[in-house]
Amino acid sequence: MSNRDEVRRLAQESIARGDATGWFEELYQRASGSWDRVPWADLAANPFLLEWLGTSEARACGRRCLVVGCGLGDDAEALAAAGFSVVAFDVSPTAIEACRARFPASQVEYAVADALAPPAAWIARFDLVFESYTLQVLPPAARTVAIAALASLVSPGGRLLVLCRARDREEPEGQLPWPLTREELEAFREQGLAQQSILSFFDDETPPVRRFRALFGRRHSK
Ligand SMILES: C[S@@+](CC[C@H](N)C(=O)[O-])C[C@H]1O[C@@H](n2cnc3c(N)ncnc32)[C@H](O)[C@@H]1O
Repeated sequence: MSNRDEVRRLAQESIARGDATGWFEELYQRASGSWDRVPWADLAANPFLLEWLGTSEARACGRRCLVVGCGLGDDAEALAAAGFSVVAFDVSPTAIEACRARFPASQVEYAVADALAPPAAWIARFDLVFESYTLQVLPPAARTVAIAALASLVSPGGRLLVLCRARDREEPEGQLPWPLTREELEAFREQGLAQQSILSFFDDETPPVRRFRALFGRRHSK
């Protein structure tokens, strides 16, 4: 059984128990520092985030940033290095412990929290909410809850940047990680955000994976 198959089995069992997120902590604990056993742990910042940081969209953002499902912290550190004041959270305490151990001098505030029920103090607080690859590992009901919760964290005038796998509505969903459709991303608009840009592209994996980079914004309050 490949590592990805094992991860899918762990996820399936957890979701079947009605626990959409319990398997993440289990996976990080099982890896116990051998991060190559965590399929998404590249130990490097996401190249599509780095690319976006060079755009005028990124320069136009305010500096208070929240990183959702931060994993081992590389994207949070990249955002801090780019001048953002960063809070980064993950539902897995082991992942957050690893962030603190990997980056002991970090300016990032790391926290254990759940995107399905974020702390009330975070509501409307962030100029940039950055989400990569977490929505695509949540089953549909949890994904809907997460979209509403993440939208609520964007400040007036703030932005939400999503990186995810992409598919057209007619294409099969396939297996985890489940690609998102444009229509699913539009759910952010129902939460009071406006879509500012959406880029559909293929990465350089073999075979290439289609992805979206989508930016939403909340209007300034009057
Ligand atoms: C597929 S990984 C992506 C990690 C990282 N964002 C990246 O792009 O490499 C999803 C991450 O989100 C975390 N996660 C899953 N559900 C979550 C939730 N409800 N709240 C907070 N973090 C969550 C997992 O523990 C995991 O670290």
